[in-house]
Amino acid sequence: MSLFLLFSSISSFLYTCASLTYCRPDQRDALLEFKSEFELRNPPEFLDEFIYDYLVPVDVNSWANSSDCCYWDGITCDVTSGVVIGVDLTFSCLHGHFKPNSSLFGLRHLQDLNLAYNDFNASPIPSGFNKLMGLRRLNLSHSWFSGQIPPENLHLTKLVSLGLSSCFNLSQSRPLFIEKPFLVQLAQNLTKLRHLYMSYVNISPEIPQMISNLTSLRSIHLHKCHLFGRLPLNALLSPAIKSIDLSTNPYLESYLPELNGSNSLVLVYLDLSETSLSGNIPDSIGNLKHLNVLKIQDSNITGKIPISIVSLSHLTSLILSSSKLSGSLPSSIGNLSYLNTLSLSSNNFAGEIPSSIQNLNRLTYVDVGNNEFTGTLPPNINSLSNLEYFDASLNFFVGTNPIYPLHHSFS
Ligand SMILES: *[C@@H]1O[C@H](CO)[C@@H](O)[C@H](O)[C@H]1NC(C)=O
Ligand SMILES: *[C@@H]1O[C@H](CO)[C@@H](O)[C@H](O)[C@H]1NC(C)=O
Ligand SMILES: *[C@@H]1O[C@H](CO)[C@@H](O)[C@H](O)[C@H]1NC(C)=O
Ligand SMILES: *[C@@H]1O[C@H](CO)[C@@H](O)[C@H](O)[C@H]1NC(C)=O
Ligand SMILES: *[C@@H]1O[C@H](CO)[C@@H](O)[C@H](O)[C@H]1NC(C)=O
Ligand SMILES: *[C@@H]1O[C@H](CO)[C@@H](O)[C@H](O)[C@H]1NC(C)=O
Ligand SMILES: *[C@@H]1O[C@H](CO)[C@@H](O)[C@H](O)[C@H]1NC(C)=O
Ligand SMILES: *[C@@H]1O[C@H](CO)[C@@H](O)[C@H](O)[C@H]1NC(C)=O
Ligand SMILES: *[C@@H]1O[C@H](CO)[C@@H](O)[C@H](O)[C@H]1NC(C)=O
Repeated sequence: MSLFLLFSSISSFLYTCASLTYCRPDQRDALLEFKSEFELRNPPEFLDEFIYDYLVPVDVNSWANSSDCCYWDGITCDVTSGVVIGVDLTFSCLHGHFKPNSSLFGLRHLQDLNLAYNDFNASPIPSGFNKLMGLRRLNLSHSWFSGQIPPENLHLTKLVSLGLSSCFNLSQSRPLFIEKPFLVQLAQNLTKLRHLYMSYVNISPEIPQMISNLTSLRSIHLHKCHLFGRLPLNALLSPAIKSIDLSTNPYLESYLPELNGSNSLVLVYLDLSETSLSGNIPDSIGNLKHLNVLKIQDSNITGKIPISIVSLSHLTSLILSSSKLSGSLPSSIGNLSYLNTLSLSSNNFAGEIPSSIQNLNRLTYVDVGNNEFTGTLPPNINSLSNLEYFDASLNFFVGTNPIYPLHHSFS
């Protein structure tokens, strides 16, 4: 009896699922049409080395008219209506021109669209994406689009996440760019935006002030965007922001504000390398208790590493090379037990290397070269079992150097 009940409830459960998720024919046809707009071809070789390691290709080839599209690889349906709400074609080997009237734009219920890591052969980004008014996440990063990013896409006012990053190769010859006042309008229209990735997009005509109007941001990545002018970093460091990459914008001027009170205290990632950042590292940096990565290499920052750095107990990378820092290293650096990368080369640091550095068992990379360090090197540093690279050259050390496990696996 109970077995029968169990059996019948399982079969009615299965029946309910199957009937509820059956793909709507217009949605299936739009997807098949979209597939037929492209060739399936391996992406350009130089791209592969970065992505093959961590992305699993979506198998678009297996999409067939005979099966329920809600079960196709990369597709998510709304269980009650059978409309397609999610298309994740990250790294799907799509190759070809992206048509301005692509049948993809018929999927009007889409909320989540990821086309990252495909090869759209330098097509312009169609303005038709603005028909997908329900989109919350749109990811076109690293997909070989070029030309002007159409302002019409700023009609997508529900967007929470927007990925428009280009890639190094394409940005050289056929860049993605925006025209003024794209960012101003983005700040006005996309008020829910939490994640903005536009690395390698030429943003130069925009004044950096507008970045600070994006008050709901959690992450912003604008690596190599030709930004210039004075950036009010203070305003960008909203209480909720977790990840900031503004690296390789050599004419972007800024300084680190006090990091207390109303500023972000949940920051995990901060990269301001290769910018015209000047001024000191404030003592209040110690308030960033969640910080994992601090990268400010090739900048004009001056002054010392504050003792408060000991409070950054989750720090894994401290990269401050090729700047204008000076003074001695605080011995509390040896309390940063998660540290794996310590790069302080080509500054004006002096004094002894604190022996506490020998406690940092996770260190894989240490470069203190080209400074004014004196005294002797910590004798047991070569017993750090994970150390792969160590460079202390061009300093004023005395005595014999310990033997280091030098596998120069980093350049
Ligand atoms: C899929 O098959 C149906 C008939 O089963 C047909 O009406 C429809 O046109 C086909 N769709 C495509 C895109 O081939
Ligand atoms: C898109 O436009 C081309 C001509 O420009 C036409 O051949 C094709 O049928 C159109 N496709 C759709 C899905 O409307
Ligand atoms: C902002 O969004 C609204 C509503 O979709 C739209 O009418 C308006 O044109 C958008 N503004 C810009 C600058 O895109
Ligand atoms: C876009 O997708 C790629 C690949 O999955 C991912 O690495 C990246 O973080 C995504 N970008 C955004 C803005 O979500
Ligand atoms: C792309 O970049 C890689 C590595 O920087 C380089 O080897 C390759 O030649 C470039 N390809 C093109 C088409 O520019
Ligand atoms: C940006 O924010 C500033 C104040 O921080 C305000 O004066 C300005 O009007 C805002 N700009 C837009 C386009 O909303
Ligand atoms: C932040 O710290 C600075 C100096 O350390 C201090 O002058 C300022 O009042 C502090 N601000 C807040 C909001 O705590
Ligand atoms: C640092 O400042 C000097 C002038 O003092 C300037 O020439 C140089 O470009 C600056 N470098 C960076 C990375 O900002
Ligand atoms: C650093 O670690 C040492 C010993 O491991 C400990 O005595 C000291 O209190 C720590 N310093 C701070 C500032 O946490």
